Amino acid sequence: GIIMFEHVDAYAGDPIFSLVEQFMKDPREDKVNLTIGFYFDEDGKVPNFSSVDKAKVWAADNPPASPVYLPMDGLPDYRVAVKSLAFGDALPLVDSRLASTQSLGGSGALKVGADLLKRYFPDSELWVSDPTWENHHSIFKGAGVKVNTYRYYNPQTKMLDFSGMLEDLNQLPEKAIVLLHPCCHNPTGIDLTNEQWQQVVDVVKQRNLLAFFDMAYQGFGFGLNEDTQAIKLMAESGQPFLLAQSFSKIFSLYSERVGALYVVCESPETAETIQGQLKFTVRTNYSTPPSSGARLVNHVLASDALTDEWKTELEVMRERMHTMRQQLVTKLGELRPDVDFSYLAAQVGMFSYTGFSPEQIKRLKDEFGVYLIASGRMCVAGLNTRNIEATAKAFAAVC
Ligand code: LMR
Repeated sequence: GIIMFEHVDAYAGDPIFSLVEQFMKDPREDKVNLTIGFYFDEDGKVPNFSSVDKAKVWAADNPPASPVYLPMDGLPDYRVAVKSLAFGDALPLVDSRLASTQSLGGSGALKVGADLLKRYFPDSELWVSDPTWENHHSIFKGAGVKVNTYRYYNPQTKMLDFSGMLEDLNQLPEKAIVLLHPCCHNPTGIDLTNEQWQQVVDVVKQRNLLAFFDMAYQGFGFGLNEDTQAIKLMAESGQPFLLAQSFSKIFSLYSERVGALYVVCESPETAETIQGQLKFTVRTNYSTPPSSGARLVNHVLASDALTDEWKTELEVMRERMHTMRQQLVTKLGELRPDVDFSYLAAQVGMFSYTGFSPEQIKRLKDEFGVYLIASGRMCVAGLNTRNIEATAKAFAAVC
């Protein structure tokens, strides 16, 4: 017979998506999904923003004048609208030396950025926090970039190892690429203070490193502008850097794949060159981006009324996740006064790092139907008033 694909290895599965599939198949009615980064509301549903729903009505009534391809770097109005959001107050500091492209969500931005960097910085390696989102490793490896880690999480204290992080960054060679989470660190929920960010920015500048920010949860931390503080400090430093932006979570537009990649260059001239190379990178990946998600985001951001409505809805999400995290900590404190859970209360955003071992995570799943990522990450948005008691009891039972 014909032999063709026989040498191909089976895909081991994705640590996040495969677990979701497993959860869906679990017949237990009281199972709790704390796995993937979806924002679930109090009813356990992934909601649509009413502001985005209004944009969808508008979009249905106003189809594009002509159904042709978008430009390689995306919808021009969209690119203008989203950069104000991404850079906040810092936009005037970078606007004249900024190249940008619409992207297929945050992951697409990372891939285009990784391809661009591999082409023009072939000897640069990437450093990511230990731990980081699993797909950071895969995307950059897929682009041919060697991936290393810098210290971030201290398993003993369950807190940030900031001196370790600084020490590691201080060892990096010039033009090393450093992946940073400007807010709502995935998976740990442990963020840097503004003072710590300033120190990181100083090291990046002194050593002439290339920071690559991945911002998928803007507004889930302390607020839309508050969550851009790290970006603002980097912008003030004058040091070139990259930024990936995602609208999956913060517009609840997961399947539309809508995001952006920014390259802050050293001068307007280099920004123009990089703009061209971004187009080329897109063209050689998937040619041009889809339009529908970008039209929705642009429509919301172009209207003051819809933007206000969206911001209010985003605030409700942020507050709900914050409340759930605090309630969980309170309940755990009642159930297990002998264990210190204060580290959980200090974490921010959509995720918390429980510090549970793989054995504890397995027990939570097998005995209690409570699903967390194997690393010990919990999606806080999966908690609601109906499942929080049972989740706290399950946590208390395994520790
Ligand atoms: C997550 O970390 O759960 C999300 O970013 C979803 C994903 O793509 O993995």
